[in-house]
Amino acid sequence: MSAQTEVKRLTAPDILARKGGLPIVTLTSYHAHTAALLDRHCDVILVGDSLGMVMHGLESTIPVTLDMMILQGQAVMRGSKHALVVVDMPFGSYEASKEQAFMSAVRVMKETGCGAIKLEGGTRMAETIAFLAERGIPVMAHVGLTPQSINSLGGFKTQGRDPADWAPIEADAKAVAQAGAFSVVIEAVAEPLAAKITRDIAIPTIGIGASATCDGQVLVLEDMLGLSPRAPKFVKRYTDLGPAIDRAISAYAAEVRSRAFPTADHVYALKGQNAGKVTQK
Ligand code: KIV
Repeated sequence: MSAQTEVKRLTAPDILARKGGLPIVTLTSYHAHTAALLDRHCDVILVGDSLGMVMHGLESTIPVTLDMMILQGQAVMRGSKHALVVVDMPFGSYEASKEQAFMSAVRVMKETGCGAIKLEGGTRMAETIAFLAERGIPVMAHVGLTPQSINSLGGFKTQGRDPADWAPIEADAKAVAQAGAFSVVIEAVAEPLAAKITRDIAIPTIGIGASATCDGQVLVLEDMLGLSPRAPKFVKRYTDLGPAIDRAISAYAAEVRSRAFPTADHVYALKGQNAGKVTQK
């Protein structure tokens, strides 16, 4: 008897099939509990290397390691059932060669059980994307502002604001689509360019600071919840959880100091017949 279980999760081919269709809802998550919340609403959960900044307070994504991505990828897989989980390949884990990329991606997929990986780069990564895709590893590409290259780009700069700069960005998007990526994140790219790329390539574009015409959108969860001290201009804050959390922590601290917490509701009494058996010494 075969031991096949019903596959409920969305897959990379499901997302590819959404080109030009219902927009693809994507958010980042690095934890089981937030993944469970997102899972009800999102098509894709991205375990982004932005966890370096968001969880670890790093200045950039450069120091993030494969082990960090795998640990959080496992947590997100445990917390979700429906969304396609995509795990970011961190800086240094895939650029040296297509073989290095394959070995790193295999670790990510075996150790997390995720459905796809994401890597940054366009034309220069096309050969690697084809190599992975041909070997059963679905790849989400990432072009435009690629944060792992900030040292070469000279900072977190919007790309393509001058049409004279469009050609290499368009070439990047076309190259990853041609190479077999199932989707591509377009980050911080001038709106008309992102819209043009979305029209011109056959795979879904997932915009972040790009265009409402993209085939989907992605945001960093903590940015849209108002939990990040600094967020880029393209972030819409859907709520502002920072002050609410501050109020709750302040109330807790005051109650602990005044012994108002815990009350009888939050401690354990003895079972009925034992009540009164213990006397204070
Ligand atoms: O690491 C990340 O969170 C990302 C998104 C910003 C697309 O790559």
